[in-house]
Amino acid sequence: MIWYPFTLQYEPELPLKIVRAEKEFLYDEAGNSYIDAISSWWVSIHGHNHPKIIQAMKDQLDRLDHVLLAGFTHEPAESLAKELLTITDGLFQRVLYSDNGSTAVEIMIKLAYQYFQNQGESDRNIFLKWNASYHGDTIGTMSVGGNSIFNRVFSSLLFPTQEFASPNCSLCPVGKKPDSCKTECVDAIETYFEKNPKRVAGIVIEPLILGSGGMIFYKEEVLQRLERISKEYGALLLVDEVFTGFGRTGFFFAFQRAKIKPDLIAMAKGLSAGAAPIAVTLASRKIHSAFVRPEAEKAFYHGHTMTGNPVACAAALASIKLMFEENCLEQVLRLEARMKEGLEIIQKEFADRIRDVRVMGAVGVLELEVGAESGYTYPGNKILKKKFIEKGVVLRPLGNVIYITPPYGISEDSLKKIFRVIRETLAEIYSGK
Ligand SMILES: Cc1ncc(COP(=O)(O)O)c(C=O)c1O
Repeated sequence: MIWYPFTLQYEPELPLKIVRAEKEFLYDEAGNSYIDAISSWWVSIHGHNHPKIIQAMKDQLDRLDHVLLAGFTHEPAESLAKELLTITDGLFQRVLYSDNGSTAVEIMIKLAYQYFQNQGESDRNIFLKWNASYHGDTIGTMSVGGNSIFNRVFSSLLFPTQEFASPNCSLCPVGKKPDSCKTECVDAIETYFEKNPKRVAGIVIEPLILGSGGMIFYKEEVLQRLERISKEYGALLLVDEVFTGFGRTGFFFAFQRAKIKPDLIAMAKGLSAGAAPIAVTLASRKIHSAFVRPEAEKAFYHGHTMTGNPVACAAALASIKLMFEENCLEQVLRLEARMKEGLEIIQKEFADRIRDVRVMGAVGVLELEVGAESGYTYPGNKILKKKFIEKGVVLRPLGNVIYITPPYGISEDSLKKIFRVIRETLAEIYSGK
């Protein structure tokens, strides 16, 4: 029996058995189809089973299934590293491979910490984070995630960090309006730096969108100010592009949209478009140079067994190629306009029941007004999920936040169905059906 992730073990719901997938569709044993409106946890950016990605993986399997990456190298890992360094504007110098978003972020944290240790600045060991942030499920990444139902029970195991109120342009933590604010939400962080000028190792950020924390959007100026502050005080900027990378915000990477220069970035999810588990951490020249030392204890000792798997690298290379061949950034802009239109119609229909509608790139959000019940444990969540799936659409709201993160090339018919299913479901719930 499987212990399914994020699933209550007390009276667990029966999972849906999927036997095949194509484009935005998943198919169950009985042949029913479901629109995957969340790209299976935000990975399938080109839809499922894209023939070019599958072919690239098959071709690679015929040549080399796997080889360890310490003391050995191979063409797919080398080509992918080169490609990643190119599409990130030459800001980075080295690519470290791993298998999932959590490990990619974990590597960022360890590199940032050891960067200062290697240079004798051992007091620089504090990481700053936002209270709605999420960076993964390992002990290290839970430590830099906001205090939430996901990590609270482990609080005594987590390393100490400094938490700040997240920026949130829909519900500003300091009561400002996005068009007139001066990023006052960052003031507390700047004050912390003024009081502790040499203690901070780095700021760990989900750029522009706090995903699992409720699809919270904030403006680019926040990142620009954080970049300025971190540079002024010699701290590092650790940018987690696990969700936002590979076109999700309408740019290849969110850091490019915000015009900032991170010291480290983490990528996963869209990297292989969901075809294989692979993740990377990119380090700037500054970071790498602190590890170019003769002493054995100054090396970076981190490497997962399947690191840089050739088949996964081949999938990622094929996916990046598709980003250009299929003009994915243009697809995302079209999708953005279409989601705005579709979600605003729903907002008008259920005006007083909707707290907020927001769209950025290929992320569309409809936040329900549920008063004090809002948040991840919103009790209506289970009913929403059930009704969506019964109507043939995979949507997994985060508490009272319904979001759509479809494959970039999703068809107009599927989009129409998603909007219709949301409308019908809300109508049923609010009429008590
Ligand atoms: C921003 C961000 N970072 C890290 C992770 C963790 O990635 P994984 O689930 O692949 O470990 C996630 C997963 O949702 C994420 O959204």
